[in-house]
Parts: sequence; structure tokens; C-alpha cells
Amino acid sequence: MTDSLNIQIRPVTPPDVPAISALAREIWQAAYPGIITQDQIDFMLEQRYGHERLYDDLEDAYKWLDQAFLDGRRVGFSFSEIYRDEFKLDKLYIHPDVQRRGIGGQLIEHVAARARKMGYPCVILAVNKRNAKAIGSYQKYGFVVRESIVDDIGRGFVMDDFVMEKKL
Ligand SMILES: CC(C)(COP(=O)(O)OP(=O)(O)OC[C@H]1O[C@@H](n2cnc3c(N)ncnc32)[C@H](O)[C@@H]1OP(=O)(O)O)[C@@H](O)C(=O)NCCC(=O)NCCS
Repeated sequence: MTDSLNIQIRPVTPPDVPAISALAREIWQAAYPGIITQDQIDFMLEQRYGHERLYDDLEDAYKWLDQAFLDGRRVGFSFSEIYRDEFKLDKLYIHPDVQRRGIGGQLIEHVAARARKMGYPCVILAVNKRNAKAIGSYQKYGFVVRESIVDDIGRGFVMDDFVMEKKL
């Protein structure tokens, strides 16, 4: 139930970058051991959540960075983007203390509303095949598996993912 929760969704701005980077590390360290190696976690955090990378993302006209606050505390974020002519939910992360309270669902709806407004027929995402909790959450919000991919992300690491889509 989310009715009684005081959740606010706001765009990420440059002064938020250090906090988003730190929050990503905290959530990834709780979520990904057992799914990918620590080396891959460190590599991907640096690649995707380094401060310079986040400042660049904020400058990109085809990317949207949203953050969620619960009772004023920053608890999660979602990044979305236009990717190969489709609307993609690129990142969705909620702090472990407050998972399963509907905040991820609210961010998904926020992103879906943006895609709908822009006229896209669906939202897509990629999720690690071993990330059963996230896959369950995406299914709950109307995503279905569209394809299976293995992406080389450099330094010998791959992303072994399902691409899922939610029709709008
Ligand atoms: C996946 C994630 C974004 C979902 O956000 P959330 O706020 O927890 O999700 P919601 O409360 O809106 O939806 C809850 C649904 O997610 C799934 N889920 C979330 N946490 C779960 C858990 N600990 N165990 C099992 N299912 C879980 C379930 O399907 C659940 O539905 P249910 O409670 O009716 O069974 C969040 O759990 C998260 O950040 N996980 C760790 C990082 C991650 O894997 N991100 C996705 C990367 S692609």
C-alpha cells in the first residue's frame, strides 16, 4: 500500500549528484552480490555512477533522471532515456530499507507517464536474468519478457539480461 506514504518524485539536479552516486553504491552492495561478482559491481558503479558520468547524463536532452523521497529522505531513483528510438527505463533502484512499499511502482508509473505523453507505444528495460526480485516487480507492473541478450560491457564483463517491455 502506498496511500499513506509521503513520497515525492523530483528531477535530479547537479547538486544531487554526489548523493545519487553514494545511494547507488549502497543499493548495489545490497542487491548484486550473488548475482554478479564484486569486481563487476565496482566496474559498473564506476562506469555508470561516477560523478562526471552523472553530470554528463544530466546534460543529455534524451535522458531523464528522477529521484524519490520518502518523508524527505532520498530513497531511490530512476533514469529513463530514448534508446534506439524506444523509450527505456534504464535504472530503477530503491533503498533496501524501504523496498516493497510501492515506491518502485510509483517511479515506474512516473516514467511510463512521460513515455505515454511523448507518444511512445511501450517502455522497455533490461534486467539481469538472475535478478528474480526485480523481474517479479516488473511483471507486477505489466512488463513481459521480449528477448534474451548478452551484452559485452568491457573489461571481460557481460550483462546477461532479459529485455522486458510494458505496453502503454
Ligand atoms: C526492484 C525494485 C526497484 C522494486 O522497487 P520496490 O519499491 O521494492 O517495488 P514495489 O514495492 O513497487 O513492488 C513490489 C514488488 O517487487 C517485487 N519485490 C520487491 N522486493 C522484493 C523482495 N524482497 N522479495 C520478493 N519480491 C520483491 C515483488 O514482485 C513485489 O510485489 P509484492 O510485494 O506484491 O510481492 C527494488 O526492489 C530494488 O531497488 N531492488 C534492488 C535493485 C534492483 O534490482 N533494481 C532493478 C535493477 S534492473
